Amino acid sequence: MTFKHTFAAFLIAASGIAFGADAPAKKDAAAEPPGQGTKYSEEGADTCLACHGEDAKVLAIFKTKHANRADKRTPFAGLQCEACHGPGAKHADAGGDAAAINSQKANSWVPVAERNKMCLGCHQGGARMGWHGSAHDANQLACASCHKVHAAHDPVLAKKTQADACFACHRQQRADFQKPSSHPVRFGKLACSDCHSVHGSNAKAMLAKPTVNQTCHTCHADKRGPFLWEHAPVAEDCTLCHSAHGAPRPALLTKSPPLLCQSCHTHVHPSVPRTGAALPANGGAGAVFVVAGSCTNCHSQVHGSNHPSGVKLMR
Ligand code: HEC
Ligand code: HEC
Ligand code: HEC
Ligand code: HEC
Ligand code: HEC
Ligand code: HEC
Ligand code: HEC
Ligand code: HEC
Ligand code: HEC
Ligand code: HEC
Repeated sequence: MTFKHTFAAFLIAASGIAFGADAPAKKDAAAEPPGQGTKYSEEGADTCLACHGEDAKVLAIFKTKHANRADKRTPFAGLQCEACHGPGAKHADAGGDAAAINSQKANSWVPVAERNKMCLGCHQGGARMGWHGSAHDANQLACASCHKVHAAHDPVLAKKTQADACFACHRQQRADFQKPSSHPVRFGKLACSDCHSVHGSNAKAMLAKPTVNQTCHTCHADKRGPFLWEHAPVAEDCTLCHSAHGAPRPALLTKSPPLLCQSCHTHVHPSVPRTGAALPANGGAGAVFVVAGSCTNCHSQVHGSNHPSGVKLMR
């Protein structure tokens, strides 16, 4: 970092006005406005690699799709390093001035939106259609908050390693997926992105499908029906009874029967609350309502029934 700016120039730099594409390119790098400048390096990647060519992390990008020069759309078929890092002549001429390059790193002086713009220039379409205004965009995430571009394999793209990239910020979810009953994310059998569109979606919680149930049905098609005898809450929202991530009870249940069922059904056959008082040891005679599967001892078809006489969800 060099401090050769005047105080006035410093104020302009601090206000962020000077960073932009309109500044005229100057022959003399020292006379460029503060910020990155607009001049690209003379030799592209070769200029950069003269100084960065020994850095194994930097070089790992040559093992990725981005380095495929046969594919006209890739950075290395075009501006190369500077497709993502922006014009680099000023940085190079100054012997590596960090204040003159878009580092794409979390501690960069370049605003997040300007960093992401470099990527979105090529990746605007497809899954990124919903990026602007998504929870991640609104919370100032950079593309590089999740993606490792200088790595032979980007961990966030693989089922087995994706969750760790998310858990860096989502601590509560890390705890949920450790619970005794949980979707087997920590065994790499499914990924967060099987249920979520992390670049943004119109559904709540950035779900991959428009509703919770449609998301669940992609894998649990048997719960979709149609059923002759439907159980209303199942058709409405699986999360009325299940946690999506993990729970301390079997089958990801939010509560155990009978409590689970009694949270909606209060006035059913013998209209008494089914609690521990029903156990023989406590003088009751309704053990079947409380032990084992409780209500599901008899109402085993909680998700709906196709049996002609399954109206009470018992067969
Ligand atoms: C003359 C040597 C030299 C050249 C040429 C050079 N760099 Fe650098 N670069 C450096 C040095 C030294 C640093 C470390 C600066 C620091 O940490 O203050 C650096 C740092 C960086 C950083 C990280 C900045 C940060 O904030 O951590 C990036 C990104 C970078 N260079 C990209 C490039 C690109 C792209 C090019 C080609 C356009 C390039 N460099 C050309 C010397 C060079
Ligand atoms: C596809 C976009 C892309 C291209 C192309 C690219 N980089 Fe990067 N580069 C990034 C991102 C994103 C980061 C931030 C990495 C991080 O946070 O770990 C980065 C980080 C760096 C760093 C800082 C590393 C550190 O740990 O401090 C250097 C130096 C660097 N790049 C140099 C280069 C050079 C040299 C080239 C060309 C050979 C290049 N980059 C090509 C996206 C790119
Ligand atoms: C000059 C255009 C360009 C720029 C800039 C660019 N990319 Fe790419 N990117 C591509 C192309 C082309 C592919 C290969 C797509 C394919 O094969 O389908 C790709 C692939 C990817 C992939 C998938 C990699 C894989 O192994 O499947 C990710 C993730 C990605 N880019 C992220 C980024 C990020 C993050 C940035 C900004 C730091 C960025 N890209 C900048 C053109 C670009
Ligand atoms: C919250 C983490 C996260 C952020 C932030 C993020 N991504 Fe991704 N990205 C992922 C995950 C997970 C995948 C793989 C699953 C998928 O495609 O949804 C992915 C896949 C991709 C792919 C390859 C598959 C495809 O859809 O073409 C590209 C390209 C990509 N991201 C670009 C970007 C760009 C550009 C940004 C910044 C605007 C960005 N990502 C921000 C997590 C993230
Ligand atoms: C750099 C931190 C960071 C990383 C990494 C990250 N997130 Fe987020 N995520 C946030 C923030 C901040 C929010 C918004 C506040 C909140 O809901 O917690 C958010 C929100 C979400 C939401 C809720 C959206 C809503 O509308 O309620 C989902 C789902 C999500 N992230 C999934 C993921 C997944 C999956 C990954 C990994 C591929 C990931 N996140 C990686 C920071 C991060
Ligand atoms: C089996 C599908 C599924 C998987 C896998 C999944 N989620 Fe979710 N997630 C959901 C559903 C459904 C919701 C909405 C819950 C609700 O409506 O109460 C949600 C909500 C969220 C939220 C919003 C806050 C909250 O907890 O309700 C975050 C953040 C989140 N998920 C992050 C993640 C992360 C990180 C991963 C991977 C480690 C992940 N999810 C894996 C289905 C899933
Ligand atoms: C990407 C596929 C996928 C999606 C989407 C999905 N699941 Fe699962 N689900 C699984 C897998 C895999 C298992 C574990 C099955 C096993 O261990 O035999 C599972 C298990 C379960 C279990 C039983 C857990 C246990 O401990 O017995 C419940 C309940 C469940 N899922 C509910 C849901 C709900 C609710 C949703 C929607 C929010 C959903 N699933 C979405 C793949 C998925
Ligand atoms: C009214 C409460 C309720 C709703 C709503 C509900 N379930 Fe369940 N689910 C249960 C109960 C109770 C069990 C445990 C079954 C048992 O003990 O026999 C269970 C078990 C499961 C299981 C594991 C055992 C099996 O049958 O495969 C899966 C998977 C499952 N539910 C998926 C779903 C999906 C997907 C939805 C939404 C379409 C959903 N559930 C809605 C109460 C419910
Ligand atoms: C979120 C609320 C909710 C939960 C939790 C719930 N139910 Fe239901 N259940 C309903 C609704 C609503 C109906 C439809 C009632 C109607 O048509 O009069 C229904 C219908 C039924 C019926 C058929 C009733 C009839 O009149 O034909 C049975 C049996 C039943 N539920 C058993 C259970 C059992 C067992 C559980 C626990 C595993 C349970 N329910 C959990 C809301 C719930
Ligand atoms: C011993 C078997 C058994 C157990 C255990 C049981 N039920 Fe039932 N349940 C029945 C039978 C049989 C009927 C049908 C009664 C009828 O048709 O008049 C019924 C009917 C119902 C109905 C429909 C009421 C109506 O007016 O038709 C609901 C709702 C219901 N049970 C909920 C529950 C809940 C909640 C639990 C757990 C607290 C539970 N059941 C435990 C046998 C059982």
